[in-house]
Amino acid sequence: MFDDKRKETLDEKNKEIRKKWDKLHFDSQQGRAGEDPYPTAVGSLRTPLYATKSYAYSSLTELLKNHYNYSRTENPTLYALDQKLATLHGGEAAVSVASGMAAVHLACSSILQQRVERIRPKKIRALLPQSNPETVPNVIIHNNQYTGVYRLLTKIYSQFGVMTKIVDMRNLIELSDAIDENTKLVFVETPSNPNLDVLDIQGCADLIHEVDGKCIVDNTFASPALQKPLNLGADLVVESLTKFVNGHGDTLGGVIIGQKNELQNIRYFWLETQGAVMHPFSAWLILRGCRTLSLRMDRHCSNAMKTAEFLEAHPKVAKVIYPGLKSHPNHALAKKQMKGFGGMIGFELETIEKCYKFIDLLKLIKVGVSLGDTTSLIEYTSVMTGIDLASWEKRRMNMSDTHFRFSLGLEDPDDIIKDLDQALDQI
Ligand SMILES: Cc1ncc(COP(=O)(O)O)c(C=O)c1O
Repeated sequence: MFDDKRKETLDEKNKEIRKKWDKLHFDSQQGRAGEDPYPTAVGSLRTPLYATKSYAYSSLTELLKNHYNYSRTENPTLYALDQKLATLHGGEAAVSVASGMAAVHLACSSILQQRVERIRPKKIRALLPQSNPETVPNVIIHNNQYTGVYRLLTKIYSQFGVMTKIVDMRNLIELSDAIDENTKLVFVETPSNPNLDVLDIQGCADLIHEVDGKCIVDNTFASPALQKPLNLGADLVVESLTKFVNGHGDTLGGVIIGQKNELQNIRYFWLETQGAVMHPFSAWLILRGCRTLSLRMDRHCSNAMKTAEFLEAHPKVAKVIYPGLKSHPNHALAKKQMKGFGGMIGFELETIEKCYKFIDLLKLIKVGVSLGDTTSLIEYTSVMTGIDLASWEKRRMNMSDTHFRFSLGLEDPDDIIKDLDQALDQI
């Protein structure tokens, strides 16, 4: 599939440097890993932006000796980002790609490719004796999950013969009942989008490993500053870098982190063939975002905690969901598994009418999809992220029609609370 020897040279060359980064604390790693030392000729303090498609050499002999060939698979700016993210997560390797969804797709493809004997189109399967539903490979997701991932699995992978089971993964007995010998993958998103359910990563990973399946964790809401799933038994971590990791809302990106062999398959087979490449300028921006990740996460978390406490005490708010509140059903697990409770809050008002009225009264807080920005962003979940789901699917994925998903920015918490207060006053 690919020439292991040539492809390994960069990581091999980098091994000694990586050991140095591994010894640093997280706050130092986020600035230095991948970038210091960086092999530049002119000693540039910042990692250069390599805006190039090809790497040209004076002879074929030179080309064959060199690692860089074409930017669909390798680029030096992306390499710095991959090294930084692998270090921050404590993984052997990382591959940065165009978006969080690209990361999810490539990670799932690689895991399923190696574990599904042959994926055939549905019509052909129907003609074959082995189309017995009991032998169809399956993936398990939680019953509250980012809608994009739910759609990818239930509407696209299903066409290629992969079945998706939806269970309440907060209940490990329910998960273990759903796992069978054809379960290839348990996809864990924690905290979950939008309901902020906290799932037991170690518990889920242990169960799927019993049937030799794999566990992918979507760590987007936490970022490596708050949660490191590879230390809790996950096989692969995926993240939308678009969110907290970049943190400045100016580009999209995704990453997959894990063991070298799986990541090599993802880079040199899946990414090279499928082509969801991150632009080097995005990598350059995300490198900059990473350097302040833990500082920003501290502020996102404290803003979220203060705001959640304010909302919980407000008589017009029907329900508040924040893993940092004692009232959150998985508060103890969040405390054990995470370093902080994150920058996302969920809350509900009493009626749909009040929801529509409230959101239009906000002044400082911006109405918009996505999250993890310096700017506070709120969405009315069922009509924004949930727009593509039928009402039965919203019920199946526990999406309430009076729910707001609120991404706390880095503004002064008093200004955020004042804005919420004046809007709640008027409904
Ligand atoms: C938990 C989660 N995973 C993945 C994604 C997809 O990320 P992207 O928008 O970068 O494709 C999102 C986007 O909102 C998300 O919330």
